[in-house]
Amino acid sequence: NNYCVIMAGGVGSRFWPMSTQKFPKQFQDILGTGRTMIQQTYDRISQIVPKENIYVITNKEYVSLTEQQLPELKPQNIVGEPMMKNTAACNIYMAKKIAAENPDANMIVLPADHLILKETAFLQKVELAFNLASKNDYLITLGITPTRPDTGYGYIQFIDKKNADHFKVKTFTEKPILEIAKSFLESGDFLWNAGIFIWNVKSILAAFDAHLEEMSQQFVSCEYNTEDEVRCIEMIYPKVTKISIDNGILEKAKNVYVIPADLGWSDLGSWTSVYENYDKDENENTMHPKHVLLYNAKGNIVQFKNKNKAAVIDGLQNYIVVDTDKALLICPRENDQLIKDYIQDLKNVR
Ligand code: GDD
Ligand code: MG
Repeated sequence: NNYCVIMAGGVGSRFWPMSTQKFPKQFQDILGTGRTMIQQTYDRISQIVPKENIYVITNKEYVSLTEQQLPELKPQNIVGEPMMKNTAACNIYMAKKIAAENPDANMIVLPADHLILKETAFLQKVELAFNLASKNDYLITLGITPTRPDTGYGYIQFIDKKNADHFKVKTFTEKPILEIAKSFLESGDFLWNAGIFIWNVKSILAAFDAHLEEMSQQFVSCEYNTEDEVRCIEMIYPKVTKISIDNGILEKAKNVYVIPADLGWSDLGSWTSVYENYDKDENENTMHPKHVLLYNAKGNIVQFKNKNKAAVIDGLQNYIVVDTDKALLICPRENDQLIKDYIQDLKNVR
């Protein structure tokens, strides 16, 4: 009864210019392990979910990339969306599709771009979550102990109970502003939402009925897993609201539960989070490839696509410098959440 949905439709804009619309980071081998992020995600979950039950949902533009990188999956398990509508839409679509095949299914929803170093711990927590989801009307998320006031994450406050392995969520705050993130961190009361969700299809569909009723209505009429599905989805999608599952459902629902998990987890979502996972020199610089001459440089992230391009950096501290064939980025590390905005502005001036 256990299914998996890998969400792989984002463009990874905070990781520009390494991640681009044509070649988003989930399809790249960001840490140089030999497997791309989506392949690593698949490798992990396929140990406990049979491959017939693993789906990838992505933009239709990336379906062929997904097929190339995951040849193990049947073509019908790789689902293309006609346009980007953020994560609420892809979640209701997949819940409906899986429910049409198996009305009692549990599903785990995985982002395609996360690093998880402690695989055994991860698989144990997922087993626990599947178990809970099959018996309870719970929307379950994995919670990570926060290490910095990152404004790119959801923050979860839970009702503490001694000796428990899962807790009822009291508040869920998606991407708070910096002051609030700081106060959450200081209170010691909060976990980061890992963005990994486990629920029964009945529970999540009921949550959509309650909190995103219009979207629920829009997805009612399709005949899933039939020839008509694609035509029907193409008709619905332009009208669907663009909202994340976090803002649309998890901030509102009353039956959210968290399983705290120490996973060696990192969302390789921004330069800062990637920085934490790279090897650093004695001055805390990370460099790929290691050919740029550095003088008096500290705490920088330096990446050049072309290792034959000569480069010298002098006197720079805590900066991101990324050079690719098409783009050059130079910005303070602490501004890495603004990269999304830079791209928007670039579209307007070019
Ligand atoms: N199919 C599809 N369609 N996938 C999408 C879409 C879409 O329109 N938009 C995003 N995705 C995929 C991304 O590729 C990624 O794998 C996943 O969904 C999550 O989207 P992000 O855009 O990376 O979300 P986030 O990182 O800003 O926030 C989420 O993850 C954080 C932890 O990494 C939230 O759940 C936060 O609460 C959480 O802390
Ligand atoms: Mg992310």
